[in-house]
Amino acid sequence: MSAKIIPLAGVIGYPISHSKSPRMHRHWLRRYGLLGDYVPLHVQEDNLETVLRTMPKMGFVGANVTIPHKTNVMAIADQISDRATLVGAANTLIFKEDGKIYADNTDGYGFMANVRQGAPGWNPKAGPAAIFGAGGAARAIIVALADAGVPEIYLSNRTRPKAEALRAEFGARVTVVDWVQAGNMLDDAKTVINTTSLGMVGSPEFRVPLDGLKPDMVVTDIVYTPLKTRLLQEAERAGCTVVDGLGMLLHQGVPGFERWFGIRPDVDEDLRQVMLR
Ligand code: ATR
Repeated sequence: MSAKIIPLAGVIGYPISHSKSPRMHRHWLRRYGLLGDYVPLHVQEDNLETVLRTMPKMGFVGANVTIPHKTNVMAIADQISDRATLVGAANTLIFKEDGKIYADNTDGYGFMANVRQGAPGWNPKAGPAAIFGAGGAARAIIVALADAGVPEIYLSNRTRPKAEALRAEFGARVTVVDWVQAGNMLDDAKTVINTTSLGMVGSPEFRVPLDGLKPDMVVTDIVYTPLKTRLLQEAERAGCTVVDGLGMLLHQGVPGFERWFGIRPDVDEDLRQVMLR
């Protein structure tokens, strides 16, 4: 008699108790009537490799990886997607049947899918994109925007050398703007993105001058607590098309769920409500 193996996935990080990913994947598992589970895994850096090598032996088919392991995991994976290589970080792992670990990065996909869903008329080629922040999220978004054919990227970060480093890596399409002049990026941008933690509950407010916002702009924020950040409120007031950041979290989970459990899940209002509860 062969016992049914229950496919498992999870999210690896620390701290991990705040992660909303288990709620999302469990919602999808229930909704599609699938056998499986998705758990938060508190793993310290020293144990990361041991844990990753052990998980496939325990029924895990894959995992998401979050702070602080997104870069570390690259040195452990056996195969790495082109996107993850370009971004220099992975957030989605697939454990293959031969025990090999495949690492992918779906943050850029999540960003694009969210903006396309929230602003169906959005054309990344319409004009420059303005990005606030130069951390991990900015890297994934720059790669995705360049891939989508955005003609120019203005990049501004409090710590300017981090923006310069991204310019050096991603090329002439990126122009660095000093943080004290970050508002000037809005002069002719068509897509505006906050990738900093500013405006998040518990973080300082996003205080960049926003008088350059215009109705032909699509404005989005990776911060989703609160859903309507100051940037998005001001953008709405200025008549811009506004896309909140919750959808990026939801969409980045889609490719992993599909690979692990075999169904491509929907990102819809139901899921948003579950996540906002
Ligand atoms: P993530 O991977 O989510 O992008 P991160 O790599 O820690 O996280 O990046 C956080 C971003 O928020 C950075 O661009 C950071 O600016 P610095 O590179 O100067 O640290 C930005 N950020 C965080 N707090 C900030 C603040 N008080 N003012 C301006 N920028 C801030």
